[in-house]
Amino acid sequence: MRPQDTFDAIVRGHRALRKFVQKALSDIETEALHSDLRELRGMLPVHFDFEERAGGFLERIRTGIPAGEAEVDLLRAEHDAFRVDIEEIIADLGGDQAELRGRIRDFATRLRDHEQKERTWGSQITLWR
Ligand SMILES: [Fe+2]
Ligand SMILES: [Fe+2]
Repeated sequence: MRPQDTFDAIVRGHRALRKFVQKALSDIETEALHSDLRELRGMLPVHFDFEERAGGFLERIRTGIPAGEAEVDLLRAEHDAFRVDIEEIIADLGGDQAELRGRIRDFATRLRDHEQKERTWGSQITLWR
């Protein structure tokens, strides 16, 4: 896969994830919300694994931008936190629904900030061009 194709795939992945999270946030029916969250639990690791794979996106950030080492450590730590968070959210689906929706909104905000950062770094890497 050419480097530019990798970045294009990441950006497409972000778009798909964001659309899906927005859909979950707008679910009025509890059953639809739960079903979307279970699906999201499957989608997220696929996206994170793609970014983390050897020779992939995060490796290019590590070597392609100033302070890349620290940035990639942070992005990886955020991936790990999202992986844990979505599992905890799924485990608590039966709990208080208002609280659950609050957690999902918080999750969505953090994920949006994370992806925004990746787009910013990704667009700075001259190797893509
Ligand atoms: Fe990421
Ligand atoms: Fe991402």
